[in-house]
Parts: sequence; C-alpha cells; structure tokens
Amino acid sequence: MEKSSGKKNTAVLISGRGSNLKSLIKYSTTKKSLIRIVLVISDNFGAKGLIYANKSKINNIVIRYSNRKSFEDRLLKVLNKNNVDLICLAGFMKILSGKFIKKFNKTILNIHPSLLPKYKGLNTHNRAIQNKDKYSGATVHIVNDKLDSGKIILQKKVKILKSDSGKSLEKKVLKIEHKIYPKAVIKLLASD
Ligand code: GAR
Repeated sequence: MEKSSGKKNTAVLISGRGSNLKSLIKYSTTKKSLIRIVLVISDNFGAKGLIYANKSKINNIVIRYSNRKSFEDRLLKVLNKNNVDLICLAGFMKILSGKFIKKFNKTILNIHPSLLPKYKGLNTHNRAIQNKDKYSGATVHIVNDKLDSGKIILQKKVKILKSDSGKSLEKKVLKIEHKIYPKAVIKLLASD
C-alpha cells in the first residue's frame, strides 16, 4: 500500500543534534520528494533531533545501545515492521556491522564531513586544517562493511581559509551537508 506513491519508506538514524535530519525532513515534505520518512531512530535518549521528529509528527524511537548485537537485532525488527526500504544515517555515531548490512540488504546512506576517502572516522575538520588542506567538504556515500568506504554518491567542496578554525570549518561544511544529502537521495533514487 505504501509503495503506491512510489516514495521509498525511509528511516533516518541519528545520535545527536539532527540538523541533517531536519534537512531530510524538509526535503521529504516537498511534493516531488522520492522518500517518505516513516521512522527516526536514535541510540541516544537525549538526541535533539528527536524534537524535530516529534514536531514533524514522524514516528520515532530510541534503541538503547548496550551492545552491538542486541542493538542491531532490535533495529532490524523495527525496520522490517515499518517496511523500510532505505536508511539514511544522519550523524549516527555507531558503526553498523557487516552482518547487519547484509541482513538489511537494502541501501544504507551516510553523510560524512570530509572529502572521502580523506579523513575517515572522527575529528575530520581539525585534521584537514592541520594538514594545511586547501579544501574540505562533505560526502554522501553508500555504507558497506568498511568504515566510510562505500561508493560515493555525491561530494561537494568548500575552501579552507587561513583564518578557519575547526569550529568555523565545521559550520561551513554543515551548510553544504544540508544541501547535498537531499540531492544525493534524489541522485540515488531517480535512477531506480
Ligand atoms: C554531521 O557533520 C555529520 O556529517 C557527522 O556528524 C554531524 C551530525 O550533525 N557525521 C559523522 O561524523 C559520521 N561519522 P547533525 O546531527 O546536526 O546532522
């Protein structure tokens, strides 16, 4: 029944602030959106993003992360129950296992605050500044069983100025993130 509109049932996973969730929600409410956000899932009770989910009347739950196995078992059940076709990781700070990725067996997207393959993992902005890079940026990629290594869907650069600090760079990159995540979703799904 859900499929009749052609929109993919999407779950967004968050751990904190949720500004990328907000940009995906905004996109999902446009007429031409290719996704319907059916569920927001957080591993953190205090995630601010849950407030946006509630405001937007999107079903949301917290799954406590006591260990990876129990978290992923519960996650898979919830995803299946809600007929989720696509997962968007949006500041979700836990690593999903290869086993989970295989079992879910549908696309999982992630947004990462660097020009991958540079600076996988954490602390990307300070590392780019320390290495005196001229550019940083953001990447949307498919999640596979290696950290921040799956196929790149979309990437956008931003110039690093001499005056930039980790904080100011983070702000600039975040602005780009909000633009490219919906665009990457469109790019991925428009070819479906
Ligand atoms: C974003 O910068 C996102 O790219 C990054 O966390 C931030 C979450 O912000 N994700 C990662 O570092 C994943 N490894 P948000 O909660 O406001 O969207």
